[in-house]
Amino acid sequence: MKIVDVKELFNRTGIPINGKRTIEIKLNEHTYLPEGELEKGWLPQVLKGLKKLSNQDNSHIKDICIVGIGPGIEAIAVSKLFSPHRLICTDIHPEVPAIARENIIKNCDNMDNQNLVCTECNLLCYLIENNIKVDMLYENLPNIPMDAPSNEIIKVNSSTASFYSSDMLNGIPDFIESSMLGLHYQFLIQAKKCLKPGGIVICSIGGRIPYNKIKKMFLEMNFKPEILHCDMILQLAAAEVLQGYITAQKKYKNKFLFYEYEEGKKMLSKAMETSKTIEDALEDESLKNSTIGFDAANAYFKLFSGNTEIGHTGLIIKGNMI
Ligand SMILES: C[S@@+](CC[C@H](N)C(=O)[O-])C[C@H]1O[C@@H](n2cnc3c(N)ncnc32)[C@H](O)[C@@H]1O
Repeated sequence: MKIVDVKELFNRTGIPINGKRTIEIKLNEHTYLPEGELEKGWLPQVLKGLKKLSNQDNSHIKDICIVGIGPGIEAIAVSKLFSPHRLICTDIHPEVPAIARENIIKNCDNMDNQNLVCTECNLLCYLIENNIKVDMLYENLPNIPMDAPSNEIIKVNSSTASFYSSDMLNGIPDFIESSMLGLHYQFLIQAKKCLKPGGIVICSIGGRIPYNKIKKMFLEMNFKPEILHCDMILQLAAAEVLQGYITAQKKYKNKFLFYEYEEGKKMLSKAMETSKTIEDALEDESLKNSTIGFDAANAYFKLFSGNTEIGHTGLIIKGNMI
């Protein structure tokens, strides 16, 4: 077991820590927190997105479920921003929920055995089986299907953070499969059964594909999408993940978009300054310039030949039920 203090992340992203001197997080080999995640990965952007959401009129968000809890850092942020009446956290890895629970209780004075559930399950099955409905569902799920059952994938360190069993792709539309959105789609299908009226979903999705495909997925599932926040995310576990995207490029004859991290971050920030909406910024021609944006095979080449840090756009998307 390893312990990491993530107080600086909370300070940097403006999440109140109510006088806590440390936010210590316990980790084992299955709880996702790779090197670089706290600085350039998903978590800083997720926390900024959640902070933005807390500034909107969301006083009705009291019962919350986080799917794919990992070590529980965004649950700590959620508890500080929304003071939930009930927080349910799920993860497919059997060892992860107990560690998340310990981290959440240790760092949140408002979370205890009465209002916190951390449980092993696939997606939202725990809510469906127990007929539980909530006001907000949050996910940051993996994108790469693997031809292996879940009980094999969980054996390899934190591989459930990037990979899921291709058994879960059954019955999904072609455009979802070829965009590598399969698990997000399955989440949205289940979400409809688990939300109270007026409830929302928050999805963290890598924008390696054109946003119109992500938007189409939300609309077809009867959710109206709104991008809460977007920034460049460092591609972690880059070698394995890029290989997954290279395989998908060959299989589906399409391209997934990656960037040189620092250059891409600068270009995205410029595009956001000069565009009316985040959606418009993502369409900015400067981001399609082939000297900073490249497909998975070129990104893999640059990663090894040029020692280049590879990034992709990361979107924190709110979906309102239509
Ligand atoms: C990218 S990690 C994110 C972890 C955490 N939310 C964070 O941001 O630090 C994805 C998490 O989802 C979990 N996961 C993967 N597939 C899942 C599924 N089908 N149902 C529930 N959890 C899943 C993984 O075990 C992993 O902890």
